[in-house]
Amino acid sequence: MKIKPIIAGNWKMHKSPSEGKTFISSIKNLLLDLKHVSVIFAPPFTGLFDMDVMPPFYSAAQNCHWEEKGAFTGEISVSMIQDCGAEYVILGHSERRHVFSESDNWINKKVKAVLAGELKPILCIGETLDQRNAMETDLVLKSQLELGLSGVNSLENIVIAYEPVWAIGTGVTADKNQVESAHATVRNILNELFPKSENIHVLYGGSVNPGNAEELIQVPGVNGFLIGGASLDVESFTSITQIVENIQ
Ligand code: 13P
Repeated sequence: MKIKPIIAGNWKMHKSPSEGKTFISSIKNLLLDLKHVSVIFAPPFTGLFDMDVMPPFYSAAQNCHWEEKGAFTGEISVSMIQDCGAEYVILGHSERRHVFSESDNWINKKVKAVLAGELKPILCIGETLDQRNAMETDLVLKSQLELGLSGVNSLENIVIAYEPVWAIGTGVTADKNQVESAHATVRNILNELFPKSENIHVLYGGSVNPGNAEELIQVPGVNGFLIGGASLDVESFTSITQIVENIQ
């Protein structure tokens, strides 16, 4: 079965709610007839409420807490995200892991909470440059997948995003051989953990732009992109989406 690619824009801490609305409306006007890709916008929490999106457009939160409610100042629960109409939650992003010290254990609790709330986690994994140089990439991916997905019964509603930390926001993209090899590793690990996981989306993220999207989307095992910087600009985001749409 062919997997319909996903183009997801992770806005990180960019765009106010009104800027986000204007941005989405421009994108929708330019991408009127998408048939072969799904597009996800992940604004900051403040922009999630009242987002005007319908398939093939979806919305995602960038994080959540695993508890349903309580004394957790500054946190947002899965049901709050659900109430905003979002379908996906990005979890384990490298900035959460490295800037905010999120552990695999926390990420795992979040994955399970998101699934229990009937939303879809986009679980991010990826090695640092030091880990790659020490030839630890495969070990890191295995450990992040095993720990992040511990206690999960099925991958049916899960998206995996491979984002090498050294390629995020640096302008340095992993080359196609590195992407192919990492995606093959991810597939092998997933197949070991979940024997029926061949239809799972594995996205690539890390300095994707209109100039490299065509090559990267054709790398075996790549089912779409998780995009940071280039997802903030109408022209580059529509251009990447259109490139992927046209190749399908
Ligand atoms: P860039 O596309 O800016 O490298 O960011 C990638 C990313 O972190 C998406 O989650």
